[in-house]
Amino acid sequence: MNRIALAIHGGCGVMAKLDLSEEEWAAARADLHCSLQVGWAVLSAGGSALDAVQAAVVVMEDSPHFNAGYGAALNTEGEHELDASIMDGRTLEAGAVTLARRIRNPIKAARRVMEKGEAVLLGGASADAFAQAEGLDIVEAGYFTTERRVKALAAMKAHVTAGTAVKASEAEKHGTVGAVALDRAGHLAAATSTGGYNNKPAGRIGDTPIVGAGTYARDGLCAVSGTGKGEFFIRYAIGHEVASRINYLGEDLETAASKVIMKDLKPYNIGAGLVAVSADGSIAAPYNTDGMFRGWVTPEGQFCIATHQKVFEVSAA
Ligand code: GLY
Repeated sequence: MNRIALAIHGGCGVMAKLDLSEEEWAAARADLHCSLQVGWAVLSAGGSALDAVQAAVVVMEDSPHFNAGYGAALNTEGEHELDASIMDGRTLEAGAVTLARRIRNPIKAARRVMEKGEAVLLGGASADAFAQAEGLDIVEAGYFTTERRVKALAAMKAHVTAGTAVKASEAEKHGTVGAVALDRAGHLAAATSTGGYNNKPAGRIGDTPIVGAGTYARDGLCAVSGTGKGEFFIRYAIGHEVASRINYLGEDLETAASKVIMKDLKPYNIGAGLVAVSADGSIAAPYNTDGMFRGWVTPEGQFCIATHQKVFEVSAA
């Protein structure tokens, strides 16, 4: 029987302990655990990698602790513009939405875009209308707003006024969620969803809905989902770059993933991380910041969750 594997992330950054209360850290870890459980349940029942990554991302979109769906970052106008994408490594089919304002779970809309096959990327009001026509949950924009994001936007605007934006904590800046998986049939898939970054310009589109940048999956190579300042993930086509290093240079997953995060992106001091799974079920989760919300389940069924360097083994149940 083929090996299965799953890895998720909920954003990377400085993640100072004081950024969140003990209760908030615990709640974020619990939601990571839940995301792993939901994705793993799909894979262990023989389901597809595509279904597993979507299910895992939906849990994080519905959690207020991550910058995607409910609890997403606000742009400079105080509005949410959501991005998401999903890719099937078996067929190289992909779907994405960008600048969505009313889709409760943007990753579900990305999947529908992929399945419909008329476009890879739908944006703005057309993405919202498409999701509505497809019968997905549509919400008022206020649904996505949490007190934490409102405070973060105000704090960032104060930083900008004072000329200290560079010193803002990562909790005030950005985050993204994502999942990668290998299923029993040997197929790979990746999914990523985000609100972008705090105080981003209205209309700004990051790497998350750009296939090959924030999300990439190709059977036989790897599946990748990234987090960090999207402009750099687009410039370096990070998802595709990891796959290409494996494909053309014969590097293993850990070497390829570490190279792009720790060497290519490190000099820009932007904060970046990714999770990736390879065709043999190995998992990589490099990040060049103090921490990254992340978790994985090994092919042996070992559940792990981490925010900073220390990795906690957790129960499957
Ligand atoms: N990586 C998410 C973004 O930059 O929008």
